[in-house]
Amino acid sequence: MKEVRVRGAVEIGGEVRVPGDKSISHRALILGALAHGETEVRGLSPAADVESTARCLRALGVEISRVEDRAVVTGVGPEGLSPPGGSLHCGNSGTTMRLLAGVLAGRPFVAVLVGDESLSRRPMRRIIEPLSRMGAEIVARDGDFPPLRIRGGRLRGIRYELPVASAQVKSTVLLAGLQAIGETEVVEPAPSRDHTERMLSYLGAQVEVDGLKVRIAPNELRAHPIEVPGDFSSAAFLIAACAARPRCALLVRDVGVNPTRTGFLDVLREMGADVALQNEREVNGEPVADLLVRGRELRAAEVGGEIVPRLIDELPVLFVLATQAEGTTVVRDARELRVKESDRIAAMAENLRRLGADVEELPDGMEVRGPCRLRGARLSGFRDHRVVMACAVAGLYASGETAIEDAEWVAVSFPGFFRVLEGIRRDG
Ligand code: S3P
Repeated sequence: MKEVRVRGAVEIGGEVRVPGDKSISHRALILGALAHGETEVRGLSPAADVESTARCLRALGVEISRVEDRAVVTGVGPEGLSPPGGSLHCGNSGTTMRLLAGVLAGRPFVAVLVGDESLSRRPMRRIIEPLSRMGAEIVARDGDFPPLRIRGGRLRGIRYELPVASAQVKSTVLLAGLQAIGETEVVEPAPSRDHTERMLSYLGAQVEVDGLKVRIAPNELRAHPIEVPGDFSSAAFLIAACAARPRCALLVRDVGVNPTRTGFLDVLREMGADVALQNEREVNGEPVADLLVRGRELRAAEVGGEIVPRLIDELPVLFVLATQAEGTTVVRDARELRVKESDRIAAMAENLRRLGADVEELPDGMEVRGPCRLRGARLSGFRDHRVVMACAVAGLYASGETAIEDAEWVAVSFPGFFRVLEGIRRDG
């Protein structure tokens, strides 16, 4: 349990880059493994979660060589995956477990997916149900929780309406659909990140997107080089550190700005923030830009409905920013936050209260009354990377010193976070 101390900052500024997108990196490794030929990946995320995916794929017989942020995946096609010698360890990574379950559902062998303490408490019925309907046999603890024992086999395509908007569940079904007989259709209640659909198309699969419906038929993927843009969700912490400070400016270069990920920017603008997209371009089907943030005084926002899946990972730091905004910010429809790496509603409400903020926990969100002068305190990271990083941003807005426990958990998505943060703080 490593503790990091963050002093309140007078100013935030400069120019930075963030590591490669974690969601896209998982998909680059998995789809690279399922493709035929060598996939060269540049800008691969250094996240421990992505390493979990690489470890599991290697255990399934996939060769992945990696030097810093460049990886080469030797694709074997789904049929080239071999039965693992032991359990597949997914660590803290829900994306690893859920996406690989979709792949393994179509393979004619038994595999067991296990996770750490946090992942072992996360719901899996949401993927067990569609994959079972497609023909896989899956056994889980209490029918819902890891470990998952999967006996894959011949799958048939289904039409599946997702009960919750989840890119992980959507991707699981699409990866199984890639190997099924007939067509598979997924219908979402609201748009979630669409990196899987974009990358499948980029690698030559026929994926049809029609509003909230995605259809896929069995397809062969062909290897193509993949460049991973900077992770918007990592950039969001740095943007938040600057956004509520008039006269401060921060440039974050080469960030993925896929609209299914950038709901946070929409809310920031509604709060009066100034964030400009510069140098917009596209790499392998993903939009990328430089983000210039100029600090402003912020006002409260109401957040709920369709936008929530587009900013789900940014909500912990949005709660922090709401403490600096004039008025009452209300976030609703975000019950999913309770089943992430920690219960992020409870975790953030507790930490913000320790800093002196006026917050009320709701069953599906939070109410935050601002603006509020935060005072440095001792906070718990709840062994959750995004809670730790949100607490660090809160510490920058607080007076005095804030101590954050569980700081080492940032490695799950953004290992160099505290170094980058130190680089953008100015003491005036
Ligand atoms: C992810 C999807 C989201 C997100 C997670 C990564 C992905 O989860 O919270 O950090 O890479 O598909 P859900 O799709 O379950 O909401």
